[in-house]
Amino acid sequence: MRSMQVAALALLALTLTEGKILLKRDGLPPAGPPQTRAKAPEFGWFKQRLDHFDTTDNRTWSMRFMNQSQFFELGGPIFVFLGGEWEISSGYLQTGQMFDMAAEHHGYMFYTEHRYYGKSFPFNNVSSDSLKYLTTDQALADVAYFITHMKRTMRGMANSKVVVVGGSYSATMAQWMRLKYPHLITAALASSAPAKAVEDFKEYFEVVSDNIKLNSVECWDTIKNGTAAMVDLLETAAGKKKLEGLLNTCTPIRTEEPYRAYLFSSIGGIFAGIVQYAYIGQIKNECNQLLRNSGSPLEKLSSYVRAQYGGDCVGDYDEFLEYYAIDNITEYIHRQWYYQTCTEYGFYQTTSSDDQPFGKTMPLSLNHHTCKDLFGKEFNVDLLRRGINRTNIVYGGYDMEVTKVVSVHGTVDPWHAVGLTKDLNPEAPVFIVNGTSHCADLSSISDYDLPEMYAAKKRSKELIAKWLK
Ligand SMILES: *[C@@H]1O[C@H](CO)[C@@H](O)[C@H](O)[C@H]1NC(C)=O
Ligand SMILES: *[C@@H]1O[C@H](CO)[C@@H](O)[C@H](O)[C@H]1NC(C)=O
Ligand SMILES: *[C@@H]1O[C@H](CO)[C@@H](O)[C@H](O)[C@H]1NC(C)=O
Ligand SMILES: *[C@@H]1O[C@H](CO)[C@@H](O)[C@H](O)[C@H]1NC(C)=O
Ligand SMILES: *[C@@H]1O[C@H](CO)[C@@H](O)[C@H](O)[C@H]1NC(C)=O
Ligand SMILES: *[C@@H]1O[C@H](CO)[C@@H](O)[C@H](O)[C@H]1NC(C)=O
Ligand SMILES: *[C@@H]1O[C@H](CO)[C@@H](O)[C@H](O)[C@H]1NC(C)=O
Repeated sequence: MRSMQVAALALLALTLTEGKILLKRDGLPPAGPPQTRAKAPEFGWFKQRLDHFDTTDNRTWSMRFMNQSQFFELGGPIFVFLGGEWEISSGYLQTGQMFDMAAEHHGYMFYTEHRYYGKSFPFNNVSSDSLKYLTTDQALADVAYFITHMKRTMRGMANSKVVVVGGSYSATMAQWMRLKYPHLITAALASSAPAKAVEDFKEYFEVVSDNIKLNSVECWDTIKNGTAAMVDLLETAAGKKKLEGLLNTCTPIRTEEPYRAYLFSSIGGIFAGIVQYAYIGQIKNECNQLLRNSGSPLEKLSSYVRAQYGGDCVGDYDEFLEYYAIDNITEYIHRQWYYQTCTEYGFYQTTSSDDQPFGKTMPLSLNHHTCKDLFGKEFNVDLLRRGINRTNIVYGGYDMEVTKVVSVHGTVDPWHAVGLTKDLNPEAPVFIVNGTSHCADLSSISDYDLPEMYAAKKRSKELIAKWLK
C-alpha cells in the first residue's frame, strides 16, 4: 500500500505526508545505525494499574519495555530511556548519549513505552472514553512503578542509581520524573523539552521563519508571496478552481473555517517538519528545491507542496478527521497525541505572530475545532484552558524546582521557544546550542558535531557522571 511506503520513508527522510494526510510528528529523530559493540535489546511486558490515583480501581494493563544488560555490573546504575508519543524501538539502546553513558558506567538500559502508544494499550480502542487514562501524571507513575519493581526484583539493582533520559515530550517527562520522584531518580537528561504548556504557540512559526530566512531570504519571500497569492485566489470562484489544480487537492476547496486553516496548515506543516528535524544543510537544500521550480512564487510554492505529497492529492479537514478517528490501534496514528494537546498542553502552532511568512492563514480556532471534532463537544476551549492551567500549576512550567537535570535545546528547533531558556540553578543547567534541531544532542558525541554541540554533549555526560558518583 502506497501510504505505508511513505510512512516507512518518513523515518529516514522525515517526509511528513502519509498519502493525503500531513502527519504532525512530534517524536524523535531516528537514532542512526547501531554501534558495532551494541547487542540487541529484548522486549518485556510489565503489568501496570490503569489508574495509579484510585486504589479502589483494580484494572490493569500490560506496558511494553525494552531491556539491555550488556554493560551491567551488579550495583551499577540504571538508565531509563523514556518513551513518548511513539512506538519504542531499539535505536537509542544501541547508540547515542545514553548508550555511551551505560557503557561508561556499567549501567543497565531500559526503554519504557508510554501508555496508549506503540503496543502499550490499556484498551482495544482509542475512543474518548478509553483515552481518559492518558495523562502525563499516569505516565510518570507508570515509570515510577516500573523502576520500583525492577529495583526490588532484579539482581544487583537494589541500590542502583537511576538516570532518566528523554527527547521532546519524553524529555519533559524526564524533567518531571526528577521533580516528582526525586527519591527514585538520581539525575535526568532532557533533550528539547517543552517546559510550559501554552495554548497559542505562536513562537513556533517565528522560529521556523527565522531559520528559513537565515538560509535564504529569497526562499522566505517566495513562501510569503506564494501564500499571499493563494489567499487572494480564494477570493473568487475561478481563483479557487485554479488553486485546486495547482495544489492537486483531493476535493473542491472549502473556504470556511476550519477547512481553510486546515488547507494552509498542510502547507505550513511541511516547513515546520523540515525545520524541526533539519539536519545540517537541509533547510538550504529544501529552499533550493523550492526555488528551482519555475514560475511565480505561487507556482513555485505549489509545485513544492505537490512534490512533498509525492503524487497523492492533498486531503481536506474531513479526510483528516476520518484518518484520526480510526478506532484501530494497530494503525500508526497520532490521535492520542492530539488528545494530550486538547486536555493538557495546547502547543498549537498558529500564525498569530506577524513575524512569519504564512500570513494569518493558521488561526488558533482550527485547533479548537479539532479537539471537539475528534473527541466530542465537551472538549471545548474551556476544558483546554483548564487543562493547560492545571499542567502549569501541577508541574511549575518555567519555575519548576529541580536539581541534577541537564536540559539541552537547539536554536533551529522551534520547541526551544517553550523550553527552559536559562539555568534553573547550578545543578540544573540549560544548554542552548546554536544551529541544531530537535533532539539532535541525543546522538553519540561525534567529530562531525558543530563545536558548540560537541561541547554541550560532553558537558552533559560529565555532569551525569558527577551526579552518579
Ligand atoms: C481488588 O483486588 C483485591 C485482591 O484481588 C480484592 O480483594 C478487592 O476486592 C478488589 N477490589 C475491587 C474494588 O475490585
Ligand atoms: C532482559 O531481561 C531478561 C529478564 O531479566 C533477561 O533474561 C534478558 O537477558 C534481558 N535481555 C537483555 C538483552 O539484556
Ligand atoms: C472501547 O473500549 C471500551 C473498553 O473496552 C469499551 O467499553 C467501549 O465500548 C469501546 N468503544 C468503542 C467505540 O469500541
Ligand atoms: C514578494 O513581494 C514583494 C512585494 O510585492 C516584492 O518586493 C518581492 O520582490 C517579492 N519577492 C519574490 C521572491 O517574489
Ligand atoms: C486496522 O489497521 C490494520 C493496518 O492498517 C488493518 O490491517 C486492519 O484491518 C484494521 N482493523 C480494523 C478493525 O479496522
Ligand atoms: C487559566 O489561567 C489564567 C491565568 O493564568 C486565567 O486568566 C484563566 O481564567 C484560567 N482559565 C481557566 C479555564 O481556568
Ligand atoms: C548562530 O549561528 C548563525 C549561523 O551560523 C550565526 O549567524 C549567528 O551569529 C550565531 N549566533 C550566535 C549567538 O552565536
